[in-house]
Amino acid sequence: MTDDTRIAVKPNVLAGTHVDASKREAMVAAARDEPDVFWKHESRRVAWMREPTRIKNTSFTGDVSIRWYEDGELNASVSCLDRHLAERGDQVAIIWEGDDPNNDAKVTYRELHERVCRLANVLRKLEVKKGDRVTIYLPMVVEAAVAMLACARVGAIHSVVFGGFSAESLASRIQDCESTLLITADEGRRGGRRVPLKTNADEALKSSPTIRNVVVARVTGGEVPMQEGRDHWWDDLCRDVEPSCEPERMNAEDPLFILYTSGSTGKPKGVLHTTGGYMVWASFTHELVFDYRPGEVYWCTADVGWVTGHSYIVYGPLANGATSLMFEGVPSWPDNSRFWQVIDKHQVNIFYTAPTAIRALMRDGEEPVKRTSRKSLRILGSVGEPINPEAWLWYYRVVGDERCAVVDTWWQTETGGLMIAPLPGAVELKPGSATLPLPGVQPALLDNDGNTLTGPAEGNLVITDSWPGQMRTVFRDHQRFIQTYFSTFPGVYVTGDGARRDEDGYYWITGRVDDVINVSGHRMGTAEIESALVAHPKVAEAAVVGMPHDIKGQGIYAYVTLNAGEEPTEALRKELVTWVRKEIGPFAAPDAIQWAPGLPKTRSGKIMRRILRKIAANEVDGLGDTSTLADPTVVGDLIDNRVG
Ligand code: WT7
Repeated sequence: MTDDTRIAVKPNVLAGTHVDASKREAMVAAARDEPDVFWKHESRRVAWMREPTRIKNTSFTGDVSIRWYEDGELNASVSCLDRHLAERGDQVAIIWEGDDPNNDAKVTYRELHERVCRLANVLRKLEVKKGDRVTIYLPMVVEAAVAMLACARVGAIHSVVFGGFSAESLASRIQDCESTLLITADEGRRGGRRVPLKTNADEALKSSPTIRNVVVARVTGGEVPMQEGRDHWWDDLCRDVEPSCEPERMNAEDPLFILYTSGSTGKPKGVLHTTGGYMVWASFTHELVFDYRPGEVYWCTADVGWVTGHSYIVYGPLANGATSLMFEGVPSWPDNSRFWQVIDKHQVNIFYTAPTAIRALMRDGEEPVKRTSRKSLRILGSVGEPINPEAWLWYYRVVGDERCAVVDTWWQTETGGLMIAPLPGAVELKPGSATLPLPGVQPALLDNDGNTLTGPAEGNLVITDSWPGQMRTVFRDHQRFIQTYFSTFPGVYVTGDGARRDEDGYYWITGRVDDVINVSGHRMGTAEIESALVAHPKVAEAAVVGMPHDIKGQGIYAYVTLNAGEEPTEALRKELVTWVRKEIGPFAAPDAIQWAPGLPKTRSGKIMRRILRKIAANEVDGLGDTSTLADPTVVGDLIDNRVG
């Protein structure tokens, strides 16, 4: 695929588009040259209780301080709900599509408002105050959105933990932010199976002393133990409270949520987003990149446990008064035509999913797609990992019938919303490229010495100035924030990704340049998987790297050194896989485990991951310089015993 393969989207897609090429240029220039004027104008996207007069106040040096709209006051739930009631109270806010294709529900803005107000009143009754942390561990049910917005309404900071995380992972996320309340469900449903959420929660609560109350949503009706005084059924609590609730006045810089994400070292970081700038960014990017038009049905297939679900199932679409579809199931159940059937059933106009899903469905051929109509579709989005041109073209040709714009969106938990993405109709598409930065985003490429590269180049992707949706800090660890994002190259935000820029200024993300891997769009620190493995009593040492994987993008390849006297058996291999699933969650299970009597280390004891990555990728001819190894013979052994 050359950079010159451009796709001109047919004009019917463009009719009525918000932004054309020249308007986009003007916006880019205005946001760069007069950010205060530009972002003051865009601030009208949210409902302020007090209009901000100070707009941008940010510094990427010294103590790093990022403040937007700092004298404004608002409540995110009001922007998402109350202000729509007069105009579109009876419009559907959330279409919920169950795991079971016969199970769905529609919730209007008015109904959603009432459900949020009731739960917010419950939170107040349970003494949740502004600034308190509430952990949410729910499946993909409407209650997840209700819980987030109810927290926002009372000023509590929510921390959503993906339902696929284990009890262990849930506990460490509760402990880190010292939540006082947990919102969970009896069980979740996925692909015809049940997920034991309450059982996991009970396990986690054994080591989470800060939790005083647990609110349990009844999703499957499965039998679960309830602890007297601590555990309460959601429905019982919500029945006895008022259907309206006064929203808390929040400063623009008051926290809205924490979301834990993996880095290259240590335990997951609590990424902190605040209220005003985040809401403006979620609304701005959702409207522009998805070219959202009133009355359209928009579907993002992510889980609310990830940032994509926060910004593009809940906050962005609801701030824009959209109809947002929420899907409980998986693309392959009851069969691999499910996505396209749901699109026809609910007449979805805008569809947003991950490359890993596209690649998995591609494998089954065109028939499961082509047996559906998909006429309602207009825009197709991609997120989470680089999309290879083959998958991009399949998405465009087979799913979109060459009629829909494909928008590949590059961003991160830390950025709060989309950063590099085409505006449909304003930017010509190139399969495999996230194209150009959005207005307000100023990327640069640096070489490893920190020199800025110009023109076509490849290097470290950094952002040179702040945008409203940027994370503000790591929860209770501002030093770690500075250290992680602003120290490798001082004065700029370091994304951790590499990228190439072509002669048209288009960006092609090449993947992480640190020890973070991306498995089916799930971000993981190799260090976390290593510590899970080393926690097993028979394991002496472990090194984890990513390896190329046809469907998942990257697979997890683990080199394991056993304690002296332990036998490397097939049974132990299986036991370790199960162990990691239990320690972190099913999605972190290693795809390959290689027994390694020794690991390639430098004389100072540092593991040379470059070599391990090459062996995992089966690129053993280009191992490069191994002369600095303490014991070069280990490499030969590792090559001979490579698995897969
Ligand atoms: C990392 C962020 C962004 C929301 C979901 C993941 C990779 C994300 C793309 C894309 C190439 C992408 C990057 C990034 N990534 N989108 N369109 N093209 N790479 O959020 O868990 O914070 O992961 O995902 O490596 O740094 P996240």
